[in-house]
Amino acid sequence: MNPRRVGYFDLGDGEIEPEPNLLNGYGDSNAFISNSDRLEPFDTDWFEFSFSRRDVQRYISFVKRKYNCRKKRVNIARTWYNQYGKQSGSQHCFHNHPCDIANVYYVELGDKSLRTILKDPITGEEIVPRVREGDLLTFPGYIEHRSPKNYTTNRKTIVAFDTNFLE
Ligand SMILES: [Fe+2]
Repeated sequence: MNPRRVGYFDLGDGEIEPEPNLLNGYGDSNAFISNSDRLEPFDTDWFEFSFSRRDVQRYISFVKRKYNCRKKRVNIARTWYNQYGKQSGSQHCFHNHPCDIANVYYVELGDKSLRTILKDPITGEEIVPRVREGDLLTFPGYIEHRSPKNYTTNRKTIVAFDTNFLE
């Protein structure tokens, strides 16, 4: 396993029902995902693959402004993909990321019911950002989030990456 990969913090939600033919052993006990390269020994740079140089500059400007970190360097800590197969029950239960900013790029999102659900760990308040296919969602790494079980006729594919601010 690539030692640069850091496990999720397993928060669980008490409703874990493993489905057959789904990938587990994801570094935590609450992910049942059809396909993912997060635990692969090689390290595909999906960030580099997914975004143009202009996209990257706009992203860096955006996070520095939005998260008030103008004087710090922006570091992409790691990147991976997850696929939630159609009618598979594939899901990722609530978890958070050990980073400053978690990011989800929606490569395939054919059904609104598969949008990411975010939860404030202090208040328990949940929101569902109105993301569409092609959008990039960013939120603080401590925010809990989950991907609903996919029983739709659409496959969901995301590229995720973790961002840290360095001095
Ligand atoms: Fe996540």
